[in-house]
Amino acid sequence: MIKTVEWTSEGVRMLDQRLLPNEEKYLMLRSYEEVADAIKNMVVRGAPAIGVSAAMGLALGASQSVGTSVADLEYDFKFMCKVMEATRPTAVNLFWAIERMRGVFAKAKAQNIRDEEEIKKLLVEEALLIYNEDIEANRALGKFGGELIRDGATVLTHCNAGALATAGDYGTALGVIRGAIDAGKKVAVIADETRPFLQGARLTAWELAKDNIPVTVITDNMAGHVMKQGKVDCVVVGADRIAANGDAANKIGTYMVAVLAKQHNIPFYVAAPISTVDLATPTGEGIPIEERDSKEVTHVRDHQLTPEGVDVHNFAFDVTPHELIEAIITDRGVARAPYTESLRTLVNARSAHAP
Ligand code: MRU
Repeated sequence: MIKTVEWTSEGVRMLDQRLLPNEEKYLMLRSYEEVADAIKNMVVRGAPAIGVSAAMGLALGASQSVGTSVADLEYDFKFMCKVMEATRPTAVNLFWAIERMRGVFAKAKAQNIRDEEEIKKLLVEEALLIYNEDIEANRALGKFGGELIRDGATVLTHCNAGALATAGDYGTALGVIRGAIDAGKKVAVIADETRPFLQGARLTAWELAKDNIPVTVITDNMAGHVMKQGKVDCVVVGADRIAANGDAANKIGTYMVAVLAKQHNIPFYVAAPISTVDLATPTGEGIPIEERDSKEVTHVRDHQLTPEGVDVHNFAFDVTPHELIEAIITDRGVARAPYTESLRTLVNARSAHAP
């Protein structure tokens, strides 16, 4: 099983995704600042994975706090939460996980726990719970989504929404594919390379090949052509934030794929755990879109592609309007239009993990 991020007695262990597929190297992060930097710099990426990492980073930071009272720990913890929140703006799972950790602190205070060591322990437990729940959620959504994939299907996916984008194991969009395969179906994958960070070419291809799932990589601008040739049965992608009306932010280029799928009458599915649904954001208009360093566009690794000084855009995400989405596959079931109702019902449904 691919272990994207892990809690250890020495710190948070992460697979350095920047080096894949050429090198499989694990980093041991020994402070919350190192975890925050790892999120910012894409050592770890993918909405659920950065949520899990942020929770572990906060648990690590709190464990290392040297204050001698609950008030000291709270002061440090609040600062760490701010640092974590500033790492990446689009994936709501990051803020959701930080909120869960804040909730543990608030509950401990409400229960009058006066021993800061006890609160540190509770924070570590919560981070581990978030980790385990993510793995279970992806198994559950993989099962629901797997039912939508026909035997013998070829599925096109964009970016990497696999084990590497989550706590590990199954993934979301790739979880749906694994769910179908585990149900006995034959499935092949077409992976968009996903410029500029190449999550498809480097990461999706790597993890599918490792699992012996047939994968063919295409450049992003080939998607229309392969659809027109009848080579794609459906599209399954992940999401970084799903607004209350079903508009879904995902890796830049996803919107383009959804428009192409509509043109060719190919169902376009979004797969995400319920923690990716943000009912507080009414529509996709309200989703902050991260802009990253222009060097990701102008260079491949250290090789410069564009003329010196040329202007570039580097939007990391786009928003697919809900009209283009056939269904949203979550760990609590499959939502269909009208999404305002179906998503609200799923979010408010009692979680299998609720106390
Ligand atoms: O910039 P990234 O690599 O963090 O973007 C990742 C994506 O857009 C994924 O598709 C999304 O987070 C879903 S991951 C299960």
